[in-house]
Amino acid sequence: MCFLIEDSQKEQRMRTHYCGKLKKEDTGARVTLCGWVHRRRDHGGLVFIDLRDISGLVQIVFDPEHSGEVHSVGHSLRPEDVVRIEGSVAARPAETVNPDLVTGEIEVNVTDVEILNHSETPPFSVEERTDVDENLRLKYRYIDLRREQMRENILLRHRVASSMRRFLDRHGFTEVETPVLTKSTPEGARDFLVPCRLQPEKFYALPQSPQLFKQLLMVSGLDRYYQFAHAFRDEDLRADRQPEHTQVDLEMSFMTVPAIISMVEEMLFALFGEVLDTQLNLPFPLMTYDDAMLNYGSDKPDLRFGMPIVEVSEIFQGTGFGVFARALEGGGVIRALKAPGAGSYTRREVDELTDFAISEGAKGLAWLSVGEKLLVSSPVAKFLSPGETGAVLEATAAQEGDLILFVADSDLVAAPVLGALRHRLGKDLGLIREGWSFLWVTDFPMFKLDEDTGDIVAEHHPFTLPTESTVKHLDSDPLLVRGSLYDLVLNGVEIASGGLRIHKPGLQRKILRILGHEEHKMEEDFGFLLEALRYGAPPHGGLAFGLDRLVMLMAGLGTIRDVIAFPKTQSGGCPLTGAPAPVEPGQLRELRIRLK
Ligand code: AMO
Ligand code: AMP
Repeated sequence: MCFLIEDSQKEQRMRTHYCGKLKKEDTGARVTLCGWVHRRRDHGGLVFIDLRDISGLVQIVFDPEHSGEVHSVGHSLRPEDVVRIEGSVAARPAETVNPDLVTGEIEVNVTDVEILNHSETPPFSVEERTDVDENLRLKYRYIDLRREQMRENILLRHRVASSMRRFLDRHGFTEVETPVLTKSTPEGARDFLVPCRLQPEKFYALPQSPQLFKQLLMVSGLDRYYQFAHAFRDEDLRADRQPEHTQVDLEMSFMTVPAIISMVEEMLFALFGEVLDTQLNLPFPLMTYDDAMLNYGSDKPDLRFGMPIVEVSEIFQGTGFGVFARALEGGGVIRALKAPGAGSYTRREVDELTDFAISEGAKGLAWLSVGEKLLVSSPVAKFLSPGETGAVLEATAAQEGDLILFVADSDLVAAPVLGALRHRLGKDLGLIREGWSFLWVTDFPMFKLDEDTGDIVAEHHPFTLPTESTVKHLDSDPLLVRGSLYDLVLNGVEIASGGLRIHKPGLQRKILRILGHEEHKMEEDFGFLLEALRYGAPPHGGLAFGLDRLVMLMAGLGTIRDVIAFPKTQSGGCPLTGAPAPVEPGQLRELRIRLK
């Protein structure tokens, strides 16, 4: 970060320098600083204070020998009081140099002090790295943000955003704001609704993404659009999900998938270079959705470690092990996962894995522990023929000390359960390498079946262009159709998602029809889009980054709440403002809303 005090209007400013920017070269300079009392220590009459501002800390010293009055103010200061001091920069004697502090070679001898404001004792310490309850942190977020780690997170977020903006500006993108009060934009979550006073009984929906507006901007000929957009989704919250998140939303006309992908890779190359001083390897690997599910049981595999899933159905054709035989007879599959070094797991640890697999949807978990001379031990070993066991050891390239896990089930269950086990074991066994593992996952299905209703629904959103090679299945078997879709995965987290869009009204209607939209409903919901596509819509596509997730990973954190200035809690609340909150009866009357 650049913290410079401009020379112009110097006299009008309250300070001459930022605390954390003072250096040995400033020794002898007279400075005026403003900031917060971070920490205070009294030493035989001398009062030492770490003064803090946005740029960091510097030690200031109140010496009773200089001015008794100034010293007694120094002595009275409490943590988080706001002060302005004048003083002179002095090199610290060698034995008091603090190597942990950027400004540790110097200190400022205070000659004058002004208390700008007092602080009550804060609800938690800004200085200490103690664990503070998150609700309390969120209630006093403005104090929480004073803590070094949080300040760093917010500054990092800013640097990420400005690097991305600079790249997009250099590459001919125009930033456009799209409405927040709008109509439902289907991205698979519930809408947040806002009643409209001027049109009673009607509601705006907050956008789940600017998807349709950015497509309309392409129809308008804007060519390349971007926006740092807030997207609102009423869904259950998790560590990487907020009801309101920020997308870096892009759209481009006349681009192919490879062209979009390499544009995004270049943007990340610039970003990681500028912000983290890291040179990424381009291009990022690509994997189809089908391969990702088959080999890693996830559409966002973490490739910082291996452990691919192995298909072993073939080995167990005609097996005498009832559990496996029944799964195969029912059209299911048997898949195996080798956990290197987990052969030493205790029975209890393996039982925990079984419980975990069952909680993820499996009916059970069979396992083989590989011992000396590749002899296996397992409660199911007796049901397997030596030929079957040998073939499994070969297929998984097992070695002494490994644990092999099996799930026999339908493909839709076996793959994700083993994917979840892989993820857990990768962590537990310490297999995850340091580093940045980017992966494009492509060719997602266009449609999937809704688990609860059995209805056909869009995998991404209803505006995706089917791939050329699979569009022929639209009428016969839509579930075989793949979309021109790509997700960008970083270390097992989906950080961006996008695709090519449909730009012809006929195809768009057809997709909406497959998704069960009746003709009149289609007009009502998407008539404006269908109409726009009739007036010379260019081929177009794009993607949106989840900015919060990207910054979370770049900061090495485990929750996006720590990179959002004012996030919501797990239950969607804001402990600081008290939102969501009841409203006055009069407001409801104006909106013609009655609460039940
Ligand atoms: P998608 O729904 O995949 O795509 O969202 C884009 C990216 O936003 C992030 N994200 C979230 N981050 C935090 N909290 C949430 N609740 C949340 N939901 C999504 C993810 C995701 O990859 N219109 C399309 C983009 C496009 O096709 O151009 C869209 O919104 O990192
Ligand atoms: P059971 O015959 O149900 O007692 O199961 C025998 C063993 O096979 C137990 O270790 C179960 O955990 C395991 N098992 C049961 N069902 C499955 C399944 N669908 N896939 C893999 N292992 C299973």
